[in-house]
Amino acid sequence: MGQKMVSKNDIVNRIRDITGSAGVLFEDGDLEPYTHDEFATDEYHVTPLAVIKPVTEREVAGIINLCSELGVPVTARGAGTGLSAGCVPCEGGIILSLEKMNKVLEIDEENLSVTVQAGVTLSQLYGAIREAGLFFPPHPGDEGAMIGGLVAANAGGARAVKYGTIKQFIRGLHVVMADGAILNLGGNIMKSSSGYHLLDLMVGSEGTLGIITQATLSLQRPPGSMETLVIPFATIDKAVEAVNVLFKAGIIPFAVEFIEHSVISCVEKLLNKSWPAKKGAASLLVILDGPGEEEVLAQAEGVAEELAACDPLEILLAEQKERQADILELRSMIYEALRPGTGELFDICIPRSRISSHIRFLRTLEDRYGISLPTYGHAGDGNIHTHSMNVTFEEGVVGDPVPGWREKHEHLRKELYADAMKRGGVISGEHGIGLVKREYLPENIGENTVAVMRAIKKALDPRGILNPGKIFS
Ligand code: LAC
Ligand code: ZN
Repeated sequence: MGQKMVSKNDIVNRIRDITGSAGVLFEDGDLEPYTHDEFATDEYHVTPLAVIKPVTEREVAGIINLCSELGVPVTARGAGTGLSAGCVPCEGGIILSLEKMNKVLEIDEENLSVTVQAGVTLSQLYGAIREAGLFFPPHPGDEGAMIGGLVAANAGGARAVKYGTIKQFIRGLHVVMADGAILNLGGNIMKSSSGYHLLDLMVGSEGTLGIITQATLSLQRPPGSMETLVIPFATIDKAVEAVNVLFKAGIIPFAVEFIEHSVISCVEKLLNKSWPAKKGAASLLVILDGPGEEEVLAQAEGVAEELAACDPLEILLAEQKERQADILELRSMIYEALRPGTGELFDICIPRSRISSHIRFLRTLEDRYGISLPTYGHAGDGNIHTHSMNVTFEEGVVGDPVPGWREKHEHLRKELYADAMKRGGVISGEHGIGLVKREYLPENIGENTVAVMRAIKKALDPRGILNPGKIFS
């Protein structure tokens, strides 16, 4: 980067010329919320030089041009709900917050799509399309998350099994490139064989190739009916093995999650709500959808029949909508419940059939390192969340700090990743690489693959101003 020495004041004044005073924060007190994402510890905190809140694509392009001229790194940020330090500012860099670009621009009922600005939150999106009688299947956790960030991380979540992750729903993107050019990729179209799929290149690029300012997303009609099943098993092995049985029988649930009961008791206390299953060591949470209640209940019977050979302890159907919502909330809040004792949260993704053998390996890690590894996750797509607890964790009770956790954890992480890779997995299924996992990416996807990624980065961002240091150093 051709560094000229520019003072903070110069930069702030030049930015004010673009966005006006209302669009710039530069006082230390105002900057704090933008120094980090939702990673559990305060390891990844960097104070930006300033936070800019553009309201138009032109302003975004103006800011990028200025950063390019001054050689100042720029990190795009949505709601900061990420878990891999992907939107943490770079040293000496600015934050380009998309929070004011928060309009739902068009709901197209003919083509079943919605066009939104990058700063629209998931809950805003769900609300707007619900009014139009439409539905967006993915539910990547925190509803405060913004669309730009969800695309930049290719977010997944529990509802990705049957219909796919965010990636499968993107028809078009507007992206501001490192030279200030505004690209209109895709559109409101279902297919394209018109040159390189630059749209796909932007998905999961974590703000390193361009700034996503707008997205057109596919929608569906809402399912006529949904049912929630909670199925406890004596062991976690039995629970995850049962998932394979369902898929082999041709049953594709809307969502299928596995949860250890030790984890559940922790979140029950937080929410003061109870999990329906009391017996056993782990549960499957299965959500089924279909055109009508009868079809979905028939599917639920199919689930019960197929699982009969897998020794379920009982099959519980949550009939009332409120009870269904409680169960989903208990599942969704696990991260928050475990967070106070979490040193690091993993999100590896391995072939579904290998989950149980990976979990057996986790048990050996727990014994050898004396670190608790509560585990749950998206059983339908092999995307597993394991928390490395820096405190003791027994029967869902968070206790005292584990002596020497940091050092032990470094070795544990290496072994955990090695096991995931041995089973054909990746180190991130949905949270992204950011700063947290970048050291492990070459070993995971191969030096040659990372070299191609670097070449793309260099071609599209020759001055290295777009969120440099994320994904790879
Ligand atoms: C979840 C987040 C941690 O699945 O991805 O709860
Ligand atoms: Zn998840």
